[in-house]
Amino acid sequence: MELDHLLHKAINLVLTPLVFAIICLILPFLIIFRLVVSISSRFSSENMAGKVVLITGASSGIGEHMAYEYAKMGACLALVARRQEKLEAVAARARGLGSPDVLALRADVSNVNDCKRSIDDTINHFGKLDHLVNNAGIGSICALEEVTDITNSGSLMDVNYWGSVYPTYFAIPHLRKTKGKIVVNSSTSALVQPPSMSFYTSSKAAVIGFFESLRGELDPEVTVSIVTLGFVESEMTEGKLVSGNGEVIVAPNLIKAISPKGLPKMRAGLAAKAIVDAICRGERYVTEPKWYRMLTLFKYLCPEVIEWHFRQTKFGKVKEAPSNHIPSKAD
Ligand SMILES: NC(=O)c1ccc[n+]([C@@H]2O[C@H](COP(=O)([O-])OP(=O)(O)OC[C@H]3O[C@@H](n4cnc5c(N)ncnc54)[C@H](OP(=O)(O)O)[C@@H]3O)[C@@H](O)[C@H]2O)c1
Repeated sequence: MELDHLLHKAINLVLTPLVFAIICLILPFLIIFRLVVSISSRFSSENMAGKVVLITGASSGIGEHMAYEYAKMGACLALVARRQEKLEAVAARARGLGSPDVLALRADVSNVNDCKRSIDDTINHFGKLDHLVNNAGIGSICALEEVTDITNSGSLMDVNYWGSVYPTYFAIPHLRKTKGKIVVNSSTSALVQPPSMSFYTSSKAAVIGFFESLRGELDPEVTVSIVTLGFVESEMTEGKLVSGNGEVIVAPNLIKAISPKGLPKMRAGLAAKAIVDAICRGERYVTEPKWYRMLTLFKYLCPEVIEWHFRQTKFGKVKEAPSNHIPSKAD
């Protein structure tokens, strides 16, 4: 046997019990440390009055409600999405809730020039940026074999992944100046990987990989918070999705096929408040509802059980076609 092969065999033998022993040794101290940090952070929340927050995907759902939460704290807002009328309505409500100044910026986050313009307009208007919230996203529930033209399946990655990377790239110099924060809305599905959601989970997993790596590049000036949500009320969970062929569809039956049976969706307002509070406390990871963390733990410790559950419940499988189609361009 060659020497390098022997070396790897020896490392395999020694390293596994060694790492296990180290984890058992440090885990109790780490848990106590995290508990102390978590308790102390509850008493020190960032004062958002007069700070500037840019939120993508602010025309509906979670992004809209995050705008209201920041507005109640007195933050100035730059709201980004494609539907200008909806943005204006959110902006008006945010002003009524206490935001001193709100900009509504029509932009498509999958377009690099739109992202640059959104950041430039925000800086030209407010002079600074404190929080960048990468929230815009689209959902998809589709088995790979149902896709008829694979070249049309890229839009999910363009919006969910590049639509978070582009604004971040242009915002970093400004966030360094304010020692600001980047927030990115991934999904619990990126960690649990349910069937018939391969395009969506991979776009959201890419987001986690990108921002975990970026965290180390920006630390300690700019902090990164990664949000992983379960089921939250929004246009997406009412059935607004992108099909595997890239068309926007409304398909409540598909959502039903992946919804936890007998459990309500979390209200968008409650999820948004929990997220904004956690960001202002400086939390690096935010999961809502919190019990979804247990799903992730189960997935890593005993993936067979999760896979068995998906098989038993025929997760993501539907017989009927989507209920109706809507145009793929924003209204
Ligand atoms: N709801 C959940 O259960 C859940 C769970 C996990 C993760 N998430 C994530 O949470 C985020 C918000 O989704 P939501 O649930 O609140 O759904 P939603 O109500 O459908 O909101 C999606 C938002 O993204 C915007 N958007 C979509 N494509 C865009 C584009 N190309 N350019 C600019 N804006 C775009 C939409 O605005 P326009 O159409 O006006 O552009 C809308 O404001 C998404 O990233 C989603 O993946 C949601």
